[in-house]
Amino acid sequence: MTDLRPSAVVVLAAGEGKRMRSALPKVLHPIAGRPLLDLVLRAAAELVPAHLVVVVGHGRDQVVAHLSSGWPDVTVAVQAEQLGTGHAAREALAALSAKGTTPDVLAALGPVVLCYGDAPLLTVDSLRRLLAAEGEVRVLTAEVADPNGYGRVLRNAITDDVEAIVEQRDATVAELEVTEINSGVYAFEPNFLAEALGQLSRDNSQGEEYLTDVVSIARRSGRRVVAVRSHAPEEILGVNDRAQLAEVAALLRDRLVGDWARSGVTFQDPRTTWLDVDVDLAPDSTVLRNTQLLGSTKLATGACVGPDTTLRNVQVGEGARVRSTTADSAEIGANAEVGPYTYLRPGTVLGAGSKAGAYVEIKASTVGAGSKVPHLSYVGDATIGAGTNIGAATVFVNYDGVSKHRTVVGDHVRIGSDTMLVAPVTIGDGAYTAAGSVIVEDVPPGAMAVARGRQRSILGWVLRRRPGTESAAAAIAAGGKPSGHIPTETNNGEESH
Ligand code: UD1
Ligand code: CA
Repeated sequence: MTDLRPSAVVVLAAGEGKRMRSALPKVLHPIAGRPLLDLVLRAAAELVPAHLVVVVGHGRDQVVAHLSSGWPDVTVAVQAEQLGTGHAAREALAALSAKGTTPDVLAALGPVVLCYGDAPLLTVDSLRRLLAAEGEVRVLTAEVADPNGYGRVLRNAITDDVEAIVEQRDATVAELEVTEINSGVYAFEPNFLAEALGQLSRDNSQGEEYLTDVVSIARRSGRRVVAVRSHAPEEILGVNDRAQLAEVAALLRDRLVGDWARSGVTFQDPRTTWLDVDVDLAPDSTVLRNTQLLGSTKLATGACVGPDTTLRNVQVGEGARVRSTTADSAEIGANAEVGPYTYLRPGTVLGAGSKAGAYVEIKASTVGAGSKVPHLSYVGDATIGAGTNIGAATVFVNYDGVSKHRTVVGDHVRIGSDTMLVAPVTIGDGAYTAAGSVIVEDVPPGAMAVARGRQRSILGWVLRRRPGTESAAAAIAAGGKPSGHIPTETNNGEESH
């Protein structure tokens, strides 16, 4: 089993992907939060190959830029003209040889695995099975109901040995009936691969060098060719257009949801649940319908998210409840309650047992343990202590038109409804603010801050200025007098809450 580590994995990604009709190279289109190419490279990297090679061509600037940021150890081979998969494989070996890694050097390390960058469902299990098989050429095949578009695997009628792979366009009517297809994933003995790639011709319907011809070359020279049948036939699906992109994305979703479900996560409706490959979901967490968990989102045990929720790079603590929420780069503490209709922006940290309720937006702010922002508020650039209540429709006025300022609210504070906290400002521990106040100065601990106009009620105004209206009639019915002495003003200056 020493063979289980390949000397190199080569990923072909030079094709044009014309049918995507996109300015973005095909292999950079994402599913489950990752470019197709990354999904193939992740599977390849699990084998810990000595070398990882990507053959680029069309859109190579974008592909190379992506590789240098995310996969700095990848060897890039440039295929300037797309002369076929066999030619692309030759360019890969040439790039390795150029850095001293000749086929001889590779042969001492293990086989070369080769796959295509547009088939992202490839499993590590299949790669390991290919490596565990023996033969100069090992090819992953699949039995499919509809072999249309794929190369067919031709076997000897008597020995059942694989004799050749014939491309659809070059196949005879009888060969087209074959339902065992070439997945495009192979393992090769390096020296034989180099030798065979030197013998490819372009004598076929597409005038290309077919990598698949290596199979018949091996047979003619008495080498062993082994076909390994896939246990997960969907892994052969390649993406050629955006309909297939959506199909493959849904299959990957099914696979991810299925894996997490088997590890103890409850999904109410897998078909409307979307998970990125890097999420981490603890056993006994629950995901309700219409929910997307993206990026590095993590759910702790007992957390329940959804319905109608999108979380990107969010950590949800034990037992937290998150409904109808959009959140990005936020932390939701244990047993916190969020939603419905809540927007948590980057830098939001909600403490244990805290609450961010309906129509609340929070950005770059910490809400302490047990504190509540229950309704209709904007909290920006704030630090809120523990056990504090922020009244409905409070706004943290953090922007003076030029720069942002911070607000600090202490522990066990009661902010009255509709308070404007004009930053920079500090509200001391245990302080209160009166509803409707515009707070521009610091409030000392334990103080009640009142900052609003006093109320004036001009008595009889409706009867004098709006006579004959329904309002006037209602006022008269309530005891108002149409004539005679009516005091014109009162001040009820006491605050009430
Ligand atoms: C290929 C196989 C076919 C198999 C199918 C599985 C060959 C000749 N045929 O057919 O047997 O059933 O895949 O999906 O290999 N590429 C390059 N440079 C090139 C040409 C292609 O890098 O010059 C890359 C493409 O970007 C793509 C991959 O190789 O990622 C496969 O090429 P494609 O033209 O799509 O091959 P198929 O016709 O699908
Ligand atoms: Ca293809």
